[in-house]
Amino acid sequence: MPPIKILVVFGTRPEAIKMAPVVQELKRYPEEFTCSVAVTAQHREMLDQVLKLFAIEPQYDLNIMRPRQTLEEVTTRALEGLTRVLDQERPDMVLVHGDTTTTFVAALAAFYRQVAVGHVEAGLRTRDKYAPYPEEMNRRLTGALADLHFAPTAQARQNLLEEAVPADRIYVTGNTVIDALKATVREDYRFEDPLLAGLDPKKRLILVTAHRRENWGRPLEDIFWALREIKGLYADVEIVFPVHKNPRVRSRAREILEGCRGIHLIEPLDYEPFVNLMARSYLVLTDSGGLQEEAPALGKPVLVLREVTERPEAVRAGTVCLVGTDREQIVAKVRELLDDRREYLKMAQAVNPYGDGLASRRIRGFLRYYFGLSIVRPAEFVPPGEGEKVPI
Ligand code: UD1
Ligand code: UDP
Repeated sequence: MPPIKILVVFGTRPEAIKMAPVVQELKRYPEEFTCSVAVTAQHREMLDQVLKLFAIEPQYDLNIMRPRQTLEEVTTRALEGLTRVLDQERPDMVLVHGDTTTTFVAALAAFYRQVAVGHVEAGLRTRDKYAPYPEEMNRRLTGALADLHFAPTAQARQNLLEEAVPADRIYVTGNTVIDALKATVREDYRFEDPLLAGLDPKKRLILVTAHRRENWGRPLEDIFWALREIKGLYADVEIVFPVHKNPRVRSRAREILEGCRGIHLIEPLDYEPFVNLMARSYLVLTDSGGLQEEAPALGKPVLVLREVTERPEAVRAGTVCLVGTDREQIVAKVRELLDDRREYLKMAQAVNPYGDGLASRRIRGFLRYYFGLSIVRPAEFVPPGEGEKVPI
């Protein structure tokens, strides 16, 4: 039997980070799988950083990114480009990840060409059409088109079952981001960047990221003013904020925060220094999806700068707290964690509801089963029991 042809499609930084372990895993078994990679390059620099780190050389690169691109532009450019790729590649299955516009469009292009779709990180839901925007609809639409749903958690599986997805098409894997994290965080990691290498270990480090579309404008401004206020209150705190490349985020961040002592606005970091910095931080403030999965695994409290989250598992475990974007509320919660050691310790527990580092191996196992290379449905991911600590 010839190897099964898998085409992995992604376009942005987080998809690349979370699909890199899957690509590496499939490539380890060339007698079973031929794995090609197509990138839309919806992101350019932030994608290339990840491709380099994980040594992935895409077979197809659509290079679609434009400054200040609109959703419509990304959608149409990716759809046209991916259709050409599919006609050339003719894969047995397209694998997509998560909830970006690239994700949805790749699933749509595959459907138009009647190619099966596997959705990695399937089943996350807020049930709010506009939060996060457009991600909630991207993942629902991708779910509607997918033939296989690789759900990271039991909750994600439940969400899919409630949408009448057949149970035998859902497989719980854990999140592949934990595979990437485990391969990248090291206790003896040394920063090359002089700023990061020179951070005072006696100061408490707050790591910040923010980019969500629904936070553009006033919410982002409130977040930035809150950071200024926090820094003004604590001499023993340093804030590092690798600023997303999006000009809409950058311009306001610079206007409000540039030049503030103890607040470091830096370029997006490569994944390796970024997660190692997270491992040394005291606290994480973010509106990102991926950080809500990584930080709990590292035992770092996360304050989520959003009104809703599709990742309730870490909220239930107590390491993630939704604070929204109100300036006063952000400042109050950060002060509580900086001033009250007991409150801090309640949140700073290492919990791994999102994975054990074996998600990509499970995905390969399920693909073998789906394509008839094995008759045994492989075992699913089961998170460690409550209270059981699984350090990274
Ligand atoms: C996209 C995804 C979002 C994901 C995020 C991860 C959509 C609609 N949005 O949002 O789900 O959480 O990526 O970061 O799919 N830019 C650069 N260089 C880069 C990357 C971006 O200059 O390497 C700038 C460009 O001006 C670009 C803009 O950022 O036009 C926005 O990029 P885009 O992918 O449209 O949206 P994100 O906010 O990055
Ligand atoms: N990340 C990174 N460098 C940075 C900031 C984030 O490598 O400067 C990583 C982070 O560890 C996580 C991912 O990028 O795995 C999150 O991406 P982003 O916040 O852009 O997207 P989201 O997770 O919100 O979709």
